[in-house]
Amino acid sequence: MIKFTIDGVEVEAEEGQNVLQVALDNGFDIPHLCYHEALEPYGACRLCQVEITKGNRTRLTTSCNYPALEGIQVQTRTEKVIKARKMVIELLLARSPNVPVIKDLAEEYSVGTPRFTLGDDDCILCGLCERVCREIVGVEAISFLGRGSDRKVGPPLEINPQTCIGCGACAYVCPTDCIKVEENENERTIVRWGRTLPMKKCKVCGRSFAPWFQLDYFGKITEGIPSDFWDKCPDCR
Ligand code: FES
Repeated sequence: MIKFTIDGVEVEAEEGQNVLQVALDNGFDIPHLCYHEALEPYGACRLCQVEITKGNRTRLTTSCNYPALEGIQVQTRTEKVIKARKMVIELLLARSPNVPVIKDLAEEYSVGTPRFTLGDDDCILCGLCERVCREIVGVEAISFLGRGSDRKVGPPLEINPQTCIGCGACAYVCPTDCIKVEENENERTIVRWGRTLPMKKCKVCGRSFAPWFQLDYFGKITEGIPSDFWDKCPDCR
């Protein structure tokens, strides 16, 4: 086990863990919007900054992509850390002034009206949707597009992504809830990507439960599962 301290408290970590995950597992409160333990850290939102002392050097750094190392000292609430977090929150609030999770952070950190031009984009470019689609679902239906202030996430050429299976994993991990999923008996639509797919009905209870395309995809990538498994809804399996 690796031993180090967080705010003076000794903690233990396993090889390969990052500082943020260890801190969260031990009950420390570090804000984070672009981190999910199932995905590769990306360091996009900069909210998880902490001060880390290693040897004689102390620096402000993002904790989600900093490895747990023997003997380091992590400080989660120094003046420098709070100042840096407030700046990040102010920038996020300027970009996405109507997003509840960001408004809550602004209130918690006493960040008032941003000094920057206000936008109205609910997407904060955290990249969680792109990573879950690529790393977990494995279809790469969406990616980062453009540069600078035009940077966004979307399907190639910004049109209905033909590889999107409509699983909704992107919506599930989105911290700002900007990816909406609409569903009825016949079809499911991932609104932000403009993807609509027909739904399959359970052969036992008759209830619509997932898009045909998603179930076909799962059937192809899984082994050892009887083919009729994907014909039944989770309740009837
Ligand atoms: Fe670490 Fe976003 S959670 S940079």
